Amino acid sequence: MSRISILTLFPEQIIQGLAHSIVGKAIENGILELDFRNIRDFAINKHGQVDDALYGGGTGMLMMLEPIIKSWLSIYIEDPNQYLAELPAEMDLEKWRSQRKQISKDTLYFLSPKGKVFDQTMAKNMAKQEHLVFLCGHYEGVDQRVIDILEPEEISLGDFVLTGGESALIVIIDAISRLLPGVLPNKEAYLEDSHAQGYLEEVQYTRPAKWYGVEVPEVLLSGHQANIAEFRKHSRMRETIEKRPDLITNLQFTKEEWLSFLAELD
Ligand SMILES: C[S@@+](CC[C@H](N)C(=O)[O-])C[C@H]1O[C@@H](n2cnc3c(N)ncnc32)[C@H](O)[C@@H]1O
Repeated sequence: MSRISILTLFPEQIIQGLAHSIVGKAIENGILELDFRNIRDFAINKHGQVDDALYGGGTGMLMMLEPIIKSWLSIYIEDPNQYLAELPAEMDLEKWRSQRKQISKDTLYFLSPKGKVFDQTMAKNMAKQEHLVFLCGHYEGVDQRVIDILEPEEISLGDFVLTGGESALIVIIDAISRLLPGVLPNKEAYLEDSHAQGYLEEVQYTRPAKWYGVEVPEVLLSGHQANIAEFRKHSRMRETIEKRPDLITNLQFTKEEWLSFLAELD
């Protein structure tokens, strides 16, 4: 079982985004537990304020420090308000960082367009962890002191800017959850996927064998397993070379396999 704690202002967006299909079933069956910490529950006043204007001026609103820190504390400490009230008023950054490590050594992942771009290797490593903690930014992002104190690992979905980390996190949890034992029917289901071994999956077909004259490659209907395996291997090589030449070095085939592939090229 994997537990994922999520600090967000919009839990509903994530719940809805993950409620369907295979991931929805993994949640239903308890393989994946989502633990939401709604940052608004830790707002600074009764109006539910969690964001404010930028110091120095500028467009937009920034998520405030205290509601985020409190929502993070709430994962590990029963009463974050009391915990903060008992701290000395003058805490420098070094003291805060050492407190943070005493409270938890869990990596906090912050969804951010400045982060390392998420990939299948990161998904595999995350899927091995018992407990993951994510922080979703929104609006203009978060007060820099959140980063300075909690020292999160920043992860990005790509070089573009989203409205909030929630939609990025839906994608990331989807990628992680299909690697968890019991989510897909067997390991092969994901070990043979694109990127699982660093290259792309072969082309695939299902019924009918012929549709308005467009046919499935004959070898796949032959029942000849060695030829089918060869077709699939060559198809993986072709897909990778044609669509993602940057992944070519991940194609670890023998000289004979390369020669047999090259001989087949038109
Ligand atoms: C509108 S963005 C803020 C962008 C920020 N002002 C900047 O230029 O770096 C609001 C939030 O969306 C999330 N976000 C935006 N783009 C993202 C991306 N490519 N990957 C992951 N999260 C992203 C982050 O959590 C971010 O704090």
